Amino acid sequence: MKITVINGTEKKGVTYRLKEIFLEQFKGNAEITEFYLPRDCPNFCAGCITCFGKDQNLCKDAKYIQPIEKALHEADLLVFTSPAYVFHTTGAMKAMLDHFGYRWIPHRPAKEMFGKRAVIITQCLGAGGSSTAKDIKDSLSWWGISYIKTVSFRLMSDVKWDKIPEKKRASFTSKLTSTAKKFAAIDYSKPAHTNLITKAKFYMVRSMQTGLGKENPEYTDFKYWKANGWLDKVRPWKNA
Ligand SMILES: Cc1cc2nc3c(=O)[nH]c(=O)nc-3n(C[C@H](O)[C@H](O)[C@H](O)COP(=O)(O)O)c2cc1C
Repeated sequence: MKITVINGTEKKGVTYRLKEIFLEQFKGNAEITEFYLPRDCPNFCAGCITCFGKDQNLCKDAKYIQPIEKALHEADLLVFTSPAYVFHTTGAMKAMLDHFGYRWIPHRPAKEMFGKRAVIITQCLGAGGSSTAKDIKDSLSWWGISYIKTVSFRLMSDVKWDKIPEKKRASFTSKLTSTAKKFAAIDYSKPAHTNLITKAKFYMVRSMQTGLGKENPEYTDFKYWKANGWLDKVRPWKNA
């Protein structure tokens, strides 16, 4: 199987250690591709809307975005990690997710995302781990992913791994290991079930795109939906 990991920080700190514990269960059995932010996507979205209106490959940051997108599409399992920074995901993670705005269901979602599985690992000192996970989950669910597991930790101690009490580290390890074992046992040849919420989003946008296409048949998103057959009988999920 293939796993793509998007690390919301380059720091080899607590977030990194938690991610390593999770991946431990897959080592030797999975091809793992990792991206570290901001290193692998160092720029902000400039808001030029070229990706929305014309072509994502004309983005000034295409050389960073294209390899990330390829790895996301090819993976069976996606892993996103982030510490809470002022109750939210890191600026680096947000900057990367902004570049994929054009992949939200109202625009040009990738069919590869429907049926994929994802795990979001966040941690915080005291509060903000859930809102951090939600920042990432918002994008993943609007990309079309239904099967998203979030695992969030509160340190309530020192923020250096070696100074976190042994008992606490053991409980983090146990939770991550059991989650990883569940994910390692999945048969990835079968796509994950696409849930009703994802389908409802799809049908809402399908109706919107049909209307937009009547007004302007050259509209980029409409042409994409039409070319995929989604305005006819084709659907991006397999368990239709
Ligand atoms: C800029 C910044 C903002 C942070 N904001 C929060 C916060 O809102 N809530 C919280 O509980 N911890 C916060 N933390 C602590 C981190 O979530 C995290 O626990 C700590 O940075 C250790 O993780 P790391 O070793 O992976 O960087 C913050 C840390 C930084 C550097």
